[in-house]
Amino acid sequence: MSRDNVVEFRFLAEPTDVNFGGKVHGGMVMKWIDQASYACAAKWSKRYSVTVSANGIRFIRPILVGQLVTVTAQIVHTGKTSMHIYVVVRAGDPKADSIVITNRCFITFMAVDETGFSVKVPKYVPVNKEDKLLEEVAMHAKDFAKKLDVDFEEKLGWK
Ligand SMILES: CC(C)(COP(=O)(O)OP(=O)(O)OC[C@H]1O[C@@H](n2cnc3c(N)ncnc32)[C@H](O)[C@@H]1OP(=O)(O)O)[C@@H](O)C(=O)NCCC(=O)NCCS
Repeated sequence: MSRDNVVEFRFLAEPTDVNFGGKVHGGMVMKWIDQASYACAAKWSKRYSVTVSANGIRFIRPILVGQLVTVTAQIVHTGKTSMHIYVVVRAGDPKADSIVITNRCFITFMAVDETGFSVKVPKYVPVNKEDKLLEEVAMHAKDFAKKLDVDFEEKLGWK
């Protein structure tokens, strides 16, 4: 894929990725999501970027050892300093046409300068109908995540 807002990782699920149940560890999938999203955020902003939050991570189907895994991360919304990324993970036997969506989530990164101070990012403008809808959903996810932050602070007194 050559679109500026998209990064794709492709690799095989290895025996070292597996948990006690014989399936790929959920934490390993989260690491792949974080890495692909970091690459996507750094490519978009041309800056070092840090993870702000991960929202709505869904484990839809298990991933098995030896399956070909594709992690696609795409910028779907930007704020002043934040980049909101939709990530979809697909996996399947490379010997067969059986690729399925295994995970999806939104993850937010913030671009920072050499001193760790936030910096402005280029604005993402959706072009087609699907991109516009994805941006809408990403904005809902951001609003929900921020509301959670407020709830923790106001209802429980936790910062
Ligand atoms: C990320 C961090 C710098 C943000 O600091 P902060 O003071 O809470 O951030 P702000 O409130 O200024 O918000 C920064 C941006 O994130 C957005 N944001 C804040 N909370 C958010 C949430 N829960 N979900 C999505 N976006 C959020 C804001 O809208 C803002 O974006 P904008 O400039 O485009 O409007 C700080 O929380 C931090 O250092 N966290 C640790 C990061 C880390 O260690 N990541 C893992 C390793 S890279």
